[in-house]
Amino acid sequence: MAKAAILGFGTVGSGVAEVLTMNAENIAKTVGEEVQIKYIVDVRDFPDSPFAPLMTKDFSDVENDPEIDVVAEVIGGATVAYDFTKRALKAGKSVVTSNKELVAKHGRELLAIAKDMNVNYLFEASVGGGIPLIRPLTQCLAGNKIEEIYGILNGTTNYILTDMIENGASFEAALREAQRLGYAEANPSADIDGIDAGRKICILADICFGKEVRSDMVPTEGITGVTLEDVEAAEKLGYKIKLLGRAMSLDGKTCAFVAPHLVPKGNMLARVDGVMNGVVVRGNAVGETMFYGPGAGKLPTASAVVGDIIDALRHRQKRRDIGWEAGESADFFDPSLLKTPWYVRVEGETASITQPCTRAELNEALAEKTVLASFRVLD
Ligand code: HSE
Repeated sequence: MAKAAILGFGTVGSGVAEVLTMNAENIAKTVGEEVQIKYIVDVRDFPDSPFAPLMTKDFSDVENDPEIDVVAEVIGGATVAYDFTKRALKAGKSVVTSNKELVAKHGRELLAIAKDMNVNYLFEASVGGGIPLIRPLTQCLAGNKIEEIYGILNGTTNYILTDMIENGASFEAALREAQRLGYAEANPSADIDGIDAGRKICILADICFGKEVRSDMVPTEGITGVTLEDVEAAEKLGYKIKLLGRAMSLDGKTCAFVAPHLVPKGNMLARVDGVMNGVVVRGNAVGETMFYGPGAGKLPTASAVVGDIIDALRHRQKRRDIGWEAGESADFFDPSLLKTPWYVRVEGETASITQPCTRAELNEALAEKTVLASFRVLD
């Protein structure tokens, strides 16, 4: 029997326990043996939970127990989670996670420790929630040179924008509902200011283009500047407003950024609504592929975490090498130099779409006017 521990019993952690229990029979068949949760680590008490007997507040119970094969770190953040992940890997346990902040900040270092210890560090759930994305990129599409990856990477902001577009909901009401549904980060600024999408595009850019892209390199703009007026003006022009993370390889450099975009209604990303995420990958052999599915939420995220638990257990003898290791920092292409059309809403004029230009060229053209909003247009 394989033994697992879950670190953190919040939305995702309780989902992982639920999926491991609900699908125990199938999981046992796939792994070749039963997978039992031995500990759940959390500083809080959950006396009414059916998992209460497994609770401990002391991580060293996990660290010092030779029976534990795999640890699911679903605490979030890059402080306690970083410490526990390093200690678990150094104790010879595989670690799987949904923690995009930790992977974006310390992924390469944690993978190096995992390699030294001949254990796995897997993070399918860190990008796109329940959508298979990291594995397709590192396996199925590995024969390609990836040219571009972009899409809707944050379920909370997509939920808010959809509620504003479809129902004319206010920003605040839509955010409250996303929080109630368990999509939002503990600090909602991480969602609405584009920080969460920024972490995810860093992970994707790094994997796709092979050089390290740190969060501090990537300009991020969230959705707080998007108003109902912009939503309506975009609609009249034939577009929907979506928060996109984009990364591309330009002249051997990596360009990555997060910003609200106007997406033509005919583009498939314009139809990715609610908590759904959609990611387009363009490879030089495959052409364009699109990945779509629930980008946040308890069971979808747990689905990806449990997939990694199974994979880690099936690769106990020969660890899974995802080919992402310590290496050079990417040469970064400044996204403000990227030419795209822009949506502009200027005082006293009807909103319109410009010819492709850089941010500086746009600012120069609008220098004499009062600009109420300007967003890139996906072309
Ligand atoms: N807050 C995140 C989102 C959770 O809304 O996408 C999943 O990463």
